[in-house]
Amino acid sequence: MSKLIIRGGRPIKGKLAVHGAKNAVLPILAASILCDDGVSVIHNCPNLRDVTITIEILRYLGARVTRAGDTITIDARRRIEGHIPPYLMQQLRSSIVFMGAIAARSRKAKISMPGGCELGPRPIDLHIKALRDLGCDIKEKRDYLYVNSRHLKSTTLTLTFPSVGATENIMLAACLAEGITIAKNVAQEPEIIDLANFLNAMGANIRGAGTNCIEIEGVKHLHAADYTIMPDRIAAITYLCCAAATKGSIELTHIVPEHLETALSLLAQCGCRVEVRNNTVLLEAPETLSAPPEIVTAPYPGFPTDAQSLFLALLTLAEGTSTIRETIFESRFRPAAELAKMGASIALCQNCATVTGVAGLQGAPVAATDLRGGAALVIAALAAEGTTEIENICYIDRGYDRLAENLSLLGADIKRI
Ligand code: UD1
Repeated sequence: MSKLIIRGGRPIKGKLAVHGAKNAVLPILAASILCDDGVSVIHNCPNLRDVTITIEILRYLGARVTRAGDTITIDARRRIEGHIPPYLMQQLRSSIVFMGAIAARSRKAKISMPGGCELGPRPIDLHIKALRDLGCDIKEKRDYLYVNSRHLKSTTLTLTFPSVGATENIMLAACLAEGITIAKNVAQEPEIIDLANFLNAMGANIRGAGTNCIEIEGVKHLHAADYTIMPDRIAAITYLCCAAATKGSIELTHIVPEHLETALSLLAQCGCRVEVRNNTVLLEAPETLSAPPEIVTAPYPGFPTDAQSLFLALLTLAEGTSTIRETIFESRFRPAAELAKMGASIALCQNCATVTGVAGLQGAPVAATDLRGGAALVIAALAAEGTTEIENICYIDRGYDRLAENLSLLGADIKRI
């Protein structure tokens, strides 16, 4: 089992280009099976464990996939199967978006339930309800979902919560359904816009992505597309927090500033000097961070739940007390216990964490509890005095391309063993 060994106390300083977005590339790769007459080429794909598993799923389904650097080529002209076994489905939660893609392409699917996840129960009721509204017959038997979508039809539907994955499934299934589907109260995350842009590049007709109401006019056929994945906004926030926690300074390129608005304004509240220039952000950390009074996670454009753990780590070093309220995933505070081993002062009560800044953290043996929780430990370790050993880094590998190498180039003393 690999570990990260970090000797803290060195400022993160320098320039870095942010890699492509994990949460955009996964549904876009699933969408690529909707094209049956050409070869799609996707650029700026990060090298992540979740991407590798998604490629395995595509190959299992019958697509020919090649990967060269950050470019992935998908040829789905052969017959695409409708079956995904548990050993593939259960390795990543986002495998559920294959349900909508297979419903549209193969019209019949037998897919295992997606795995339970480290963030607590992650139900798929909204996905199932939306696809049923679109005319899919879905039966749940033992650990499998049996989907029959021979009669996909357009509809008007309203999600009871703007689920990102359910919104993606709706777009995937509805873009080949006859008629106009109107989906209300949908997710507005930038990754939804990226998926819509990719589908539209393939010939789909999706309007309104990025607002809470999407209109999808079904087309008969989708063709291959050449597409570049958007930058990873959560990876960007991670590197900004690394610099902020270590009294460092960083210039991040290849970002979309609007995607980072809530995080940048919080970093400014913490006392960081933040400057945005085109697709670049510069951050200079203060000598002492100040604690913002309250952070509340919310669907986009609110503060992202994925960045919550990163700020949890950062605020352990800020002067004052902050309250963080998590409204999306109930188990997002699991890194708090690990941060406490490093000297952090965090009190948990239901979905709230009260963080009281301490003068310094100390290195300790800790273990990543989930992807962003693992990144939080890296932020804390970079700022801590002494050496931190982080176990379970397979979680971190799910979402960060070359994290240790990048941090090392930015001045960190970090080794993967
Ligand atoms: C996506 C992101 C994840 C991010 C999350 C929220 C990917 C691969 N992952 O996850 O990084 O943290 O959005 O921004 O893009 N829910 C239900 N029933 C459902 C579906 C969801 O109750 O059928 C609940 C979930 O339990 C959770 C909330 O809705 O409490 C948000 O989930 P959702 O937006 O679906 O997140 P994901 O798409 O799984």
